Amino acid sequence: MDLKAAARAVRDNAHAPYSNFKVGAALRTASGKVFVGCNVENVAYPEGTCAEAGAIAAMVAAGEREIAEAYVIADSPDPVPPCGGCRQKLAEFAGRDVPVTLATTSGSERQTTVGTLLPGAFGAGHMERR
Ligand code: THU
Repeated sequence: MDLKAAARAVRDNAHAPYSNFKVGAALRTASGKVFVGCNVENVAYPEGTCAEAGAIAAMVAAGEREIAEAYVIADSPDPVPPCGGCRQKLAEFAGRDVPVTLATTSGSERQTTVGTLLPGAFGAGHMERR
């Protein structure tokens, strides 16, 4: 399945009545399956969740843990950069070299990687004792 089409389609389902900023995310896992998510806002604003978080939750709920590729799309002037929390969430399930495409609904795309989005990421190795 085409990640771009999947992300674009799920974006339509976003619940974003407070920001009016709909975001769609699609992930391809190492096994080739595609999982999607959209932002889900809440009247208690901090309870809202990002599109990337939704896609990751769907992936994990399906028993998958390895992101091979990610795509995020929004109706923004420039390809939307994932928030800091979502960068850390992606890094939990993706290696540094995993490609991430950031896109606008009007067709601009920026290619990056999980490692570029979150240099110096905190990882499990940082909890190891000498
Ligand atoms: N948002 C995402 O879903 N993903 C991003 O990468 C950036 C921001 C959402 C959160 C909130 O619902 C809206 O966009 C405005 O911040």
